[in-house]
Amino acid sequence: MSTLITNIAELTTQDADHRVLKNAAVVIEGERISWLGAAADAPAADQAVDAGGRAVLPGWVDSHTHLIFAGDRTAEFEARMAGEGYTAGGIAVTTAATRSTSDFDLTRLALGRVAEAVSQGTTYLETKTGYGLDVENEARSARIASTVVDEVSYLGAHLVPAGLDAEEYTGLVCGPMLDAVRPYVRWADVFCERGAFSGEQSRRVLQACRDAGLGLRVHGNQLGEGPGVQLAVEFGAASVDHVNYLSAADVDALADSWSGWDAGSGSGGATAHRGTVATCLPACDLSTRQPLAPGRELLDAGVQLALASNCNPGTSYTSSMAFCVATAVLQMRLSVHEAVRAATYGGALALGRESGRDVDGERAVGSIAVGHRADLHLLNAPAAAHLAYRPGVPLTHAVWRAGVPQPVR
Ligand code: NIG
Repeated sequence: MSTLITNIAELTTQDADHRVLKNAAVVIEGERISWLGAAADAPAADQAVDAGGRAVLPGWVDSHTHLIFAGDRTAEFEARMAGEGYTAGGIAVTTAATRSTSDFDLTRLALGRVAEAVSQGTTYLETKTGYGLDVENEARSARIASTVVDEVSYLGAHLVPAGLDAEEYTGLVCGPMLDAVRPYVRWADVFCERGAFSGEQSRRVLQACRDAGLGLRVHGNQLGEGPGVQLAVEFGAASVDHVNYLSAADVDALADSWSGWDAGSGSGGATAHRGTVATCLPACDLSTRQPLAPGRELLDAGVQLALASNCNPGTSYTSSMAFCVATAVLQMRLSVHEAVRAATYGGALALGRESGRDVDGERAVGSIAVGHRADLHLLNAPAAAHLAYRPGVPLTHAVWRAGVPQPVR
């Protein structure tokens, strides 16, 4: 079955050449994009959809979320808005609620969050474990996550549970817990921060997880300067996320990690060498009243950037990538094109999915090109600029995920 989407006023491809086409059309065949170009040249298809002069962009790639949780932290949020600071300790509250929730309910809650994200244009999602924090509950979180999202990261190193010795717990994360989650995850993450895991403990986790064949990611430099960014670059992590407090040496290390890399010849695959993406989480920065990550400075230095929601109950309870894009434009001084690129292609790059073979299950996501997965986001607006020009307005008109139309609320 083929579908022609025509009468597109603006088609933002986010392909290697950053093409933006006017008066364009796209053809979807099965789960792949089979053609794009001027509407006047479009081939016939089994069915046609009139985009009505609206804008089309790639579906959002949300490369950092924590969706496997139960419980509520409204009181913590309200206390923070009244002036209390954020500490990693709130993770324990969610861990207690998550442990006491059934598989059925955890799955139902996670599926609801995925549906909420997809209805706003998100078509590819990563999520993490990290609210289990014992062998049984981390494995359970990983298993459930693997049934509801595209990419799963193991975050046993999220917080040292109360009453446990940090060194012993790190040993558990690097040993029996890693073995238990391994069948369900492609990535490992570590929260390298004061109040969470030290540089040395993070190093142990990254080493063990790399030895187990996992791709690496790091939560780093969220609450203050620290070793997170340097460790991420040293280990060739695919991304380092948060990046609020960076030294000049951190920015240089991230920029150096991309020297010689050519977007046009990216080879794909979680372990293929490329630089370390800096993933900015602006909704989290606002909700924790941290300074916004220096996205403009990072881009200017030559660092590849991603934007992600960081949807979680503690620091960023939103699934809205459009909100992140608007904030990046209005407050972080990115252009609309740069912000949309970071929230689509950048997320794909952070997950090693920006290129791929033209084969089911191995298709590139995050950009619109022939052979890529047909993940499309049709806005109820004539141009992507409306995402920042009309902040807070729900602009999603239609979504295709792997070629399949999705419900939009
Ligand atoms: O990405 N930084 C660590 N983890 C989450 C917060 C999780 C929580 O507080 O529940 C984050 O912000």
